Amino acid sequence: MINDHALNDKPTVIGERVRLVPLGPQHAEPFWQATLDPENRRLTGTRREFTLDFVRDWCADRATQPGRLDLAIEDRTTGDYLGELALIDVDHDSESAAFRIALSPGLAGRGYGTEAARLLLGYAFDQVRLHRVQLEVYSFNLRAIRAYQKAGFVLEGHLRDAHMWEGRRYDVFCMAALRGEWRAPAQ
Ligand SMILES: CC(C)(COP(=O)(O)OP(=O)(O)OC[C@H]1O[C@@H](n2cnc3c(N)ncnc32)[C@H](O)[C@@H]1OP(=O)(O)O)[C@@H](O)C(=O)NCCC(=O)NCCS
Repeated sequence: MINDHALNDKPTVIGERVRLVPLGPQHAEPFWQATLDPENRRLTGTRREFTLDFVRDWCADRATQPGRLDLAIEDRTTGDYLGELALIDVDHDSESAAFRIALSPGLAGRGYGTEAARLLLGYAFDQVRLHRVQLEVYSFNLRAIRAYQKAGFVLEGHLRDAHMWEGRRYDVFCMAALRGEWRAPAQ
């Protein structure tokens, strides 16, 4: 059975270089900036335009949203905002949830995303007691696929031509980690 307290009481999770903290209004500005970046929009399939006011309200609401976790990724030393990640679509019956993550523009390729994903998986399995955490990633997002593999997600299959971006169709890869087999792999 899932531990709902671990979802509803928003945690702080501390790693070597990053920490995950409850997303709040203080993160709204850099969060919103990231939604404007064309490359981030392509990699995350974001089509919608967001206003800063909308993002501010959304960030402020996160602490009171039951049954999901929206966390900011911060630099452990400086507290700088690095990005955000979430555990969503929690299914109590199957003890599964979906995962998403986006670093701010210019911060990819430094290991932050892999560390943050590992921290969240550890929390999801050890504290929330989920059995399965799954995600979808576009076939062209090779950096994300590699980072997810390093974090312990396993490629399960692909949905053919499931995504269309600027007139081209792409496969969507399905990846997941299971509590029984997941270990935070060595770097
Ligand atoms: C996806 C994301 C979370 C990954 O986090 P990250 O901190 O950039 O990833 P890391 O630096 O830990 O690891 C990236 C890995 O991809 C590899 N990589 C980078 N570009 C690559 C490419 N074109 N092909 C194959 N591998 C690639 C790197 O070499 C590294 O692997 P290595 O450590 O074995 O050398 C982050 O890049 C991000 O948020 N990107 C923007 C939004 C996004 O894509 N979100 C995911 C949507 S599903």
